[in-house]
Amino acid sequence: MAISAFFIPSVNLMGAGCLQQAVDSMQAQGFKRALIVTDAGLVKTGLAQKVSTLLANADIQSVVFDGVHPNPTCANVNAGLALLQEKQCDVVISLGGGSPHDCAKGIALVAVNGGKIQDYEGVDKSAKPQLPLVAINTTAGTASEMTRFCIITDEARHIKMAIVDKHTTPILSVNDPETMAGMPPSLTAATGMDALTHAIEAYVSTIATPITDACALKAISLIVAYLPRAVENGQDMEAREQMAYAQFLAGMAFNNASLGYVHAMAHQLGGFYDLPHGVCNAVLLPHVQVFNSKVAAARLADVGVALGVKASAEEAIQAIRTLAATVGIPAGLTQLGVKEQDIPVLATNALKDACGFTNPLQASHEEICAIYRAAM
Ligand SMILES: [Fe+2]
Repeated sequence: MAISAFFIPSVNLMGAGCLQQAVDSMQAQGFKRALIVTDAGLVKTGLAQKVSTLLANADIQSVVFDGVHPNPTCANVNAGLALLQEKQCDVVISLGGGSPHDCAKGIALVAVNGGKIQDYEGVDKSAKPQLPLVAINTTAGTASEMTRFCIITDEARHIKMAIVDKHTTPILSVNDPETMAGMPPSLTAATGMDALTHAIEAYVSTIATPITDACALKAISLIVAYLPRAVENGQDMEAREQMAYAQFLAGMAFNNASLGYVHAMAHQLGGFYDLPHGVCNAVLLPHVQVFNSKVAAARLADVGVALGVKASAEEAIQAIRTLAATVGIPAGLTQLGVKEQDIPVLATNALKDACGFTNPLQASHEEICAIYRAAM
């Protein structure tokens, strides 16, 4: 067996009320000035102000950068970086879902390593650890609060850059389900299906290990049990807490086993049409697994068992479709505005995305086009 590495933040706080504990930990580490990277929505809900107040009570000054776009761009990274440098911050706090975490990683990475964010596209391109990053998660989720993955849209090329770098790992991740209760049903569904995609892609990955397998299968069984409940009733705190654990476990799996063609292909849809990441994954997931079942039927049979159906690839794929429909995911890419004539260029870019390198079966350009078409 090949050598494997396992990356995870050194401290990970889980559970209702752990936000205060995170602030206490930052105070104990002597941080003085924080850049809070978030989006306008979380400023409106008052959560950004709540975090600023908790920090002030712990003698940590803070400044809020709320310019993160749902698909964060190079321009967002540059704007946040300028504010960080102007205010001479010694720590970055990301507050939100995947978009603020990814943007904050970009800011923190360039702050120390210099150059521009495009220089770090690919795997482990940076020389030094980023500025310390504390990631406070409000969705369940991308798991970006605990991964070394950073996805930034290059608006000039209309693509999402996959930056996979051990130096972007946050020093502390915070999953407090109280900060997740306000998520609307559609965001709960999309982010939950993203987590399911992480677990399944990691489980069938060519570099899966017994550690990532255990994380992936547990994540899948929690998601099928609790995602419909969290979508149905956002105040169901048991479902919120279990989904926080599920998405974290899925993150542990894919942070180390990487992903596959669902993400490689979904990134192109996000970059090209500015579509929500979780919805793109949810639509593509069963179609990519039909392709993968040529070589990974036994692994997909295990996924079926974790989903509570029979040990078969077909049953697993059907269970994925059923779950997606239950939580209100659109049936196909046409509904999302994807155009048939764009498919060849989307496929070309998908084959360049680092996430696809660990898919269990490598595809030709024609095969990627066929998967997109099947998902229309
Ligand atoms: Fe994802």
